[in-house]
Amino acid sequence: MKKLIIGFSCLSLINSTLCITHPNTKIYFKRKSICYNNSNSFEKFMRWTNEKKKIVETLSSVISNNKKLLLDIGAGNGEITTGIADRFDHIVAIEPSKTLFEQLRKVCRTQKFTLVEKPFEKVILDQKFDVIISSHSFQFITNPTYELTRIKELLSDSGMLILINLKQDCEYIKLYHKFRKKIFGPESTYAQNLNFEYDIMELLQQFFNVKQSFFDTQLTIPTIDDYISLLDFFYDVPLSSISPDTIMFIKKELYKDYGDNPIKINFEQAMYICTK
Ligand SMILES: C[S@@+](CC[C@H](N)C(=O)[O-])C[C@H]1O[C@@H](n2cnc3c(N)ncnc32)[C@H](O)[C@@H]1O
Repeated sequence: MKKLIIGFSCLSLINSTLCITHPNTKIYFKRKSICYNNSNSFEKFMRWTNEKKKIVETLSSVISNNKKLLLDIGAGNGEITTGIADRFDHIVAIEPSKTLFEQLRKVCRTQKFTLVEKPFEKVILDQKFDVIISSHSFQFITNPTYELTRIKELLSDSGMLILINLKQDCEYIKLYHKFRKKIFGPESTYAQNLNFEYDIMELLQQFFNVKQSFFDTQLTIPTIDDYISLLDFFYDVPLSSISPDTIMFIKKELYKDYGDNPIKINFEQAMYICTK
């Protein structure tokens, strides 16, 4: 498999190139530097959500056994990649974040996996894949129209692209917007899109036959203080940059809705199954 992948060999060059040419990815990397490296917010989020487990269950229900090749675009820490690995002979997992790539490497140790530490846009592949997945990663892809052309070429004739992301109007996004203006100021456009900046369904339909379905996932944050401790993860800012007044405001608003109960947030996912 390795010979199929042609790209840059110098990782530091890739990372600096990435920051110049991929503005969306750069935003994500900023997020990574705050919550992945400087706090345990992401670990806590993972502990309090059933999202990855649900995604693995859902993917397993739509991917039949004995598929040959999987491409995972933006594999993250590998939880989903390894969760569906038994269905495939070989897996190519692409992950540009250094921190997440290290985690991915720890769980994808066998010859079954080819791991690539680059953004998808920089990876050249000449193999046909039975399944291509992009779970919560496609919004970071710059020039999605062009990349979908490439993805279509990479799919075998009977292959499928499975794209998973947050449903546009889910409770998680509503709560996110409820406090965003308070945190950044009413005029700020910073982090105003947590999801796609375009109509993803419309775009996918230009290339594929698309079936859309939804499934529920949950985030249960034990206390309001725990919610506050995740603000760096939600909003991509250091906790220390959020004023005590804003924190008090958020606490009061949450108390109105949840009192002393855990904060249960429904977290609906949209899945797009795309075939040629
Ligand atoms: C929210 S995480 C999702 C990880 C994993 N797919 C999951 O669902 O658990 C988004 C992932 O997309 C990756 N990513 C960001 N920009 C990317 C790009 N241009 N190409 C490929 N992956 C990218 C991030 O590094 C990150 O691992």
